[in-house]
Amino acid sequence: SDEKEHLVIGVSQCSDDEWRTQMNREMLREALFYPETEVKIRSAKDNSGIQIEDIETFIKERVDALVVSPNEAETVTPVIEKAFDAGIPVILVDRKIHSGKYTAYVGADNYDIGRRAGFYIVNRLHGKGHVVEITGLRGSTSAEERHRGFMDALAESPEMEVVARADAGFFQQKAEDKFDSILARHKDIDLVFAQNDRMAIGAHQAALKCGRQKDMLFVGIDAVSGEGYGVEKVASGELDATFIYPTSGDKVMQVVMAVLEGKPYDRDTKLQTALVDKSNARVMEMQTEHIFELDKKIEYLNKKVDAYFLRYSSQRMFLYACIVI
Ligand code: FRU
Repeated sequence: SDEKEHLVIGVSQCSDDEWRTQMNREMLREALFYPETEVKIRSAKDNSGIQIEDIETFIKERVDALVVSPNEAETVTPVIEKAFDAGIPVILVDRKIHSGKYTAYVGADNYDIGRRAGFYIVNRLHGKGHVVEITGLRGSTSAEERHRGFMDALAESPEMEVVARADAGFFQQKAEDKFDSILARHKDIDLVFAQNDRMAIGAHQAALKCGRQKDMLFVGIDAVSGEGYGVEKVASGELDATFIYPTSGDKVMQVVMAVLEGKPYDRDTKLQTALVDKSNARVMEMQTEHIFELDKKIEYLNKKVDAYFLRYSSQRMFLYACIVI
């Protein structure tokens, strides 16, 4: 028989934002190339308790593979181990866990991104200056690794000083609120390093309210394209720079399928980063817009192919009926 097995892939996202939306879109589009594959996406909305329930549900449903971006490593590790022990292949994306019980990881090296950001900032300030660090969710490996990389880069320059630090959980509004009070306490800030663009934009917003936005630079991470996101903010000059944090949902799906089809795969797929500053932000925007157009065409063609297949199989049914009768 040419009947293929129906595969279900459970995706547990820790959060809900443009970066994740893009990643989800890429996963769903890539899955179109594997006709018998169904992708179920759940978002834990930054709540580790909800994420544990989501993964428990996927275990009960006996999904064929679990893709997971763990909210807080410590809290979510046990349920991921449980899925793994139940024989479900686990593909970690973006954030990691405190355990070796997973099948593969797909993501950028967050330590390396933090370090690159640090070296960029040291250079930008010519080795001397007052920096504020706004960190992402405490307990998430991306936030921890970015912080470590950043501090290691700064450690080589004794005149670089981190004058304040705040945890804003990767959220824009929280970053704005926290930076409001930092601004009130510190008169001399040269640069704000935020662990993602949303927080950098929030900090910029706070500085704007008291007219101090021109006194300092803002650096973020993610480089999402589109109106109101990081790349555009760099192009417009609100942010000084950002670093690409690739979503690569297509790559994630390819690794999942290699695992399920018993083909070779890398246990650690390292996605690349790159600096986005004023010199290349517009180019990046143009390229991404072009890719969006191509993506739409892929989806359109896929729908057309589906329609043809439907027609073909109903014709075949008709022919079969004629022969039988
Ligand atoms: C998206 C996000 C990104 C950040 C990543 C870190 O949910 O907050 O902004 O780079 O997660 O894990």
